[in-house]
Amino acid sequence: MERITLHDKTFRIFIPHNEIQKSIEELAKKMNQDFNASEVPLFLSVLNGSFMFTSDLLKHLNFQCELSFIKVSSYSGVESTGELKHILGLSADINGRTVVLVEDIVDTGATIVELYKMLTEAGAARVVICTLLLKPDAYKKDIPVEYVAMKIPNDFIVGYGLDYDELGRQYKDIYVLDTPSNQK
Ligand code: IMP
Ligand code: MG
Repeated sequence: MERITLHDKTFRIFIPHNEIQKSIEELAKKMNQDFNASEVPLFLSVLNGSFMFTSDLLKHLNFQCELSFIKVSSYSGVESTGELKHILGLSADINGRTVVLVEDIVDTGATIVELYKMLTEAGAARVVICTLLLKPDAYKKDIPVEYVAMKIPNDFIVGYGLDYDELGRQYKDIYVLDTPSNQK
């Protein structure tokens, strides 16, 4: 599909499925080199947005790892509220562990800063950030984002797990808001 309509907005195709998959395979290759048998990291997937990314990424990892989920929310409509709601808390024991935080997208960074703090306080030995997408023009925080599959401009996107007010998560491609200012 070239265009989709969700609620009151129209989106056009931005990153096709095969490009997403290629970038994830590249990212997994890097992780496979960096992690080795001496540690079993805990992948902590941030719901809801990162469910598809987490699933596709883990299929390509060849070292032992554990997987758990956490649910937070900071977005309302097309803008970050800057305020994080913990909806489903941390259930895994992370004391002394390497935790790989798996995000769909890092925008202002408010979410990862908050989670980084929470995980460090809960005793994690090391917290590593891994994200499908990064908006470098929006991200101004100090925490290094070590694993990034793709960098994108400051536009609002949906699909492949990401939503616009809960719609659009199921698409296998990524779509961008179709406004006159970002039309090709
Ligand atoms: P941050 O806390 O501002 O970095 O925002 C992170 C969260 O906001 C992500 O995990 C997404 O759920 C959501 N988000 C940020 N940008 C977008 C977007 O372009 N489309 C959909 N959701 C987004
Ligand atoms: Mg999210």
